[in-house]
Amino acid sequence: MAKLHLITYGCQMNEYDSERVAGLLREHRYELTENEADADLILVNTCAIREKAEDKVFSKLGELGKLKRRRPEVMVGVMGCMAQLHKAEIQRRAPQVDLVFGSPAIARVADLVAQARREGRPVLETGEGPLVKITARPASASRLKAFVTVMEGCEKHCTFCVVPTTRGRERSHPPATIAAEVRELVAEGCREVTLLGQTVNAYGRDLTPPTDLAALFAAVNDVEGLARIRFTTSNPYNLTPRLIAAVRDVPKVCEWFHLPLQSGSDDVLARMNRGYTHARYLELIDALRDAVPDISLSTDLIVGFPGETEDDFAATLAMVERVQYDNVFVFRYSPRPGTPAAAMPGQIPAEVKAARNARLLEATTRAAHARSARRLGETVEVLVDGAAKKNAGELSGRTRCNRIVNFDGQGRVAVGDSVHVRVTEVLPHSLRGMLVASPEEAVCSSR
Ligand code: SAH
Ligand code: F3S
Repeated sequence: MAKLHLITYGCQMNEYDSERVAGLLREHRYELTENEADADLILVNTCAIREKAEDKVFSKLGELGKLKRRRPEVMVGVMGCMAQLHKAEIQRRAPQVDLVFGSPAIARVADLVAQARREGRPVLETGEGPLVKITARPASASRLKAFVTVMEGCEKHCTFCVVPTTRGRERSHPPATIAAEVRELVAEGCREVTLLGQTVNAYGRDLTPPTDLAALFAAVNDVEGLARIRFTTSNPYNLTPRLIAAVRDVPKVCEWFHLPLQSGSDDVLARMNRGYTHARYLELIDALRDAVPDISLSTDLIVGFPGETEDDFAATLAMVERVQYDNVFVFRYSPRPGTPAAAMPGQIPAEVKAARNARLLEATTRAAHARSARRLGETVEVLVDGAAKKNAGELSGRTRCNRIVNFDGQGRVAVGDSVHVRVTEVLPHSLRGMLVASPEEAVCSSR
C-alpha cells in the first residue's frame, strides 16, 4: 500500500473532510501514516479564516518543498479553503505543489491524484461541483465522538468573512442521508455526534421539501445507541423559537449553545452585516435561558473591526458581563482578500487589537470561572472519553454542557459509559468529581 500523510488546519469541518479524503484514498490503496517522512502523498487541508492561519500553511509548504527536493517522488497536494481562495498564489509561492483542489472536488480526490501522477504537472481543480455526501472513513476512525457535516457553504456575507467565497452557497444534505451516516457511526461505537454547518441553524431551507434543524434533531435523536447530539455554528439571525423548543425538548440534544455575537456595538454589528442588534441578541439569550435554564453558552468575538472605537469595544465588554458566557473565543480582526471590511476606512493598529484582546480575555475568563464555580456540589452526567490527561489512573469525560470532568472510576467504569459524578472541585479548565451511584440531582442531564 502507498502511504498518505494528512495535515489538517482550521475548523471541525476540515477535520471531517480530511477523514473523508483518507477514507476515499484508502479505497485506492493509500494507508494513513503519522510520519511525513514515510509518505508517498502529503495533503495539506487549509484554512483561510484569518491571515495567521494562511501564514502557517505557507510556512509548512516551504518545509514540504525542502522535503520534495530530497525526495522528488513525494506528491504534495493542497486542499480546503486556501486552495479555493489562493490557487494562483499557492502556485507562485509553492511551485513544488502537485495538486490544488477545493472542497467541491473532494469526492474526486483519487482521480485527481492519479491525474497529477500521470501527467507529471500540477493539477488545479477549484471549480464548483455538486454536493456529494461522502461516508468513506479511514479504518482507524471509529471513536466515541464524531463530527457530521450536515450542510456546506454560507450565504450570510458578514463583511469580514471569507467563508462564503471559499465554501460557496448553502447546500444541505437530506435528513435521511445524515441519519444513515449517524447510524453507521453508532454501529462502530460512536455515542456523540456534532452536526456541523457554517450556519447550521439555516439547515434544510434549500431542500425540497424544505426542512429545518429541529426536524433533523428529531431524526437523529431516533438513532438507537446514540447518547448525545451537539451542533455548531448557529447564527443569531436564523435562531427560531422552534429551534429553541427543540433544544429543550429533544432528549439527546445537549444543553450547550454556541451563538457568535462578534461585537456588542450596534454600529459595528451593522457594518459587519450581522443582521441583529445587541438588544435582539439579548432577547435570544433570554429565550434560550427561559427554555433551558441551565444551558451553557459560548460565543465568538472579534476585536479591532475597522472603525471600532473605545465605546464600541466597551459595548462588547458590557455584553460579556451581561451574558456571563461559559466559554468565549476572541479573535483579532484580520482583513481578508475580497471582503468588504478589508477596504473599510479606520483599520485598527495591531497594538490596539492586542490590548483589546487582552482586556476581553480577562473579562471572559473571569465570567467563565464564575459560571464553573456554580457546578460545585452538583451531580452531572459524564460520558467517559478515556484516561485523565494529568493522571492516567483517573478517567476523564465531558458533561452534557461540555465541561471536562476528571474522576476515579474505581475500576467499575469503562470508556464510552455514561456515569454520574458529583463535582468536588472546580479548576480553571476542568472539574474534579466523585463517582456516585444514582443521579439524585443530575443538573446538566435533568431528562
Ligand atoms: N459560521 C460561523 C463562523 C465561522 S468562522 C458563524 O456564523 O459565526 C469562526 C469565527 O471566526 C467567526 O465567528 C468570527 O468570530 C471569526 N472570524 C471570521 N472571520 C474573521 C476575520 N476576518 N478576522 C477575525 N476573526 C474572524
Ligand atoms: Fe462567515 Fe458570517 Fe457565514 S461569519 S460563515 S459569513 S455567518
